[in-house]
Amino acid sequence: MKITVVGAGAVGATCADNIARRQLAQEVVLLDIKEGLSEGKALDMFQTATLCGFDTKITGSTNDYAKTAGSDVVVITSGLPRKPGMTREDLIGTNAKIVKGVTDNILQHSPEAIIIIVSNPMDTMTYLSLKTSGLAKNKLIGMGGILDSARFKTYLSLALDCPPNDIHGVVIGGHGDTTMIPLTRLATRNGVPVSQFLDNETLQKVAADTMVGGATLTKLIGTSAWYAPGAAVAELVESIVRDQKHVFTCCVSLEGEYGQSDICLGVPVVIGKNGWEAIIDYKLNDEEQAAFARSADAVRNMNDVLKTLEL
Ligand code: LAC
Repeated sequence: MKITVVGAGAVGATCADNIARRQLAQEVVLLDIKEGLSEGKALDMFQTATLCGFDTKITGSTNDYAKTAGSDVVVITSGLPRKPGMTREDLIGTNAKIVKGVTDNILQHSPEAIIIIVSNPMDTMTYLSLKTSGLAKNKLIGMGGILDSARFKTYLSLALDCPPNDIHGVVIGGHGDTTMIPLTRLATRNGVPVSQFLDNETLQKVAADTMVGGATLTKLIGTSAWYAPGAAVAELVESIVRDQKHVFTCCVSLEGEYGQSDICLGVPVVIGKNGWEAIIDYKLNDEEQAAFARSADAVRNMNDVLKTLEL
């Protein structure tokens, strides 16, 4: 297996680090436009091989896509990160051009690759890649819901004072502060609905904290988060390269599922060697379905901005 991570900022570098430590590939290539950055970070990471006990070779490339040739999975993290006070949507103008260019370059050298989009606004960047690349829909996965679900489970575990791994919880919809939908009704602690342990007010606070999970970190750190995003990407990559068929919320192309078409949005999907392999129908109630439709409207408005950009 060969895996490329485009963008050697904090998110991209943490993705590469997690992928190498889990030994998900023989080779990881880290690519960035900034001269020397990816080579330096890749060498630093590779020097942890004997310390951390992995054999994955990590190399860097300053914008030379030939070095990424034949990649099985490519993670695109390029673009500007959020600064405090910015929404993910504020990044669209700059990041759309970057993501389109990167996708084109990647597919020239790795036409069979499965692509994971991390760049924000992620739902719109995934849609853009789908529309401009001609890639089969199952090979294009936006990373957002798996991260938002991890944050949801963390906040639930804090409210319940229990281990995070005892919690099951899912966030669907867009990967935006107002578009994501923590499915509180379906969240469980070891199979028991969390509503048996937490009152409505607490559950609403957990949902609200989850929705601004990324923004809270951006405010604290001064830029976008990277530890949980990097681990979330590695979890997706592992399910692909080991064909594990895990179900994670990912941003994928909808063609009527959940009542939506011509849009990429977060729904539970099976992740395996073919990319996303099936969409799981969670049988939303009317309120959840209405929230999903509102989320789709907001993401569609953002997608419409693409038409005004010269890409
Ligand atoms: C976040 C970025 C990766 O939510 O969108 O932290």
